[in-house]
Amino acid sequence: MENTVDADATAAQAESSYLAGVLREIFYSPMNLALVSIICFLVYKIIRDRTESIRDVPQAQAEPELPKLRRDFTVKELRHYDGNQPDGRVLVAVNGSVYDVTKGKRFYGPGGPYATFAGRDASRNLATFSVVANENENYDDLSDLGAMEMDTVRDWEMQFKEKYEYVGKLLRNGEQPNTYENDSDKDDETAADNDKEE
Ligand code: HEM
Repeated sequence: MENTVDADATAAQAESSYLAGVLREIFYSPMNLALVSIICFLVYKIIRDRTESIRDVPQAQAEPELPKLRRDFTVKELRHYDGNQPDGRVLVAVNGSVYDVTKGKRFYGPGGPYATFAGRDASRNLATFSVVANENENYDDLSDLGAMEMDTVRDWEMQFKEKYEYVGKLLRNGEQPNTYENDSDKDDETAADNDKEE
């Protein structure tokens, strides 16, 4: 029993003298002291940056929501909504349907990786995996695309439909816009499907 107590005391002594040795090594060597200061400063910066970025998130999300938009667009009219106008609304068309992608501004807004889709029909880009701006000012009927490319467009269309608000149709050349006065109670999916059938 006594032996165990002795062993514990010796272990504690060894540990504290080891710690004292480490501290002496740090504080008596100017080089080590400088290194420890740098490490403390870097750890402080990392913690501070993290807390600041956590605090920033709600501010970034606090942008006021824009009123719901429900109308059809010609290709030319759509171009206005590229996020550079004062209200910052961003619209993107996929497979004949226009979506309000303002909440995905980090993707499509000015400076975003897919900013070239903003205010445009992105169908051909999505089908061909291209982010080169589509400057075509006429309705693109996509009739030259292959079956697999059209599947890709439809897959993207599903994703947009799930994530973003449907706004209306992208009008073919000469096609007249619909009026949607009594349409506000329809959910986006029903509205998008109904517009397609017309
Ligand atoms: C090196 C190639 C690429 C990489 C590494 C990449 C990576 C990503 C990542 C990480 C996201 C974000 C996903 C999220 O946070 O929800 C994203 C979103 C997106 N990517 Fe790409 N991407 C690439 C190429 C492309 C190409 C070629 C296209 C189409 C032409 C494309 C279209 C999109 C679109 C439309 C979104 C946004 C979807 C949304 O609105 O939620 N990407 N991509």
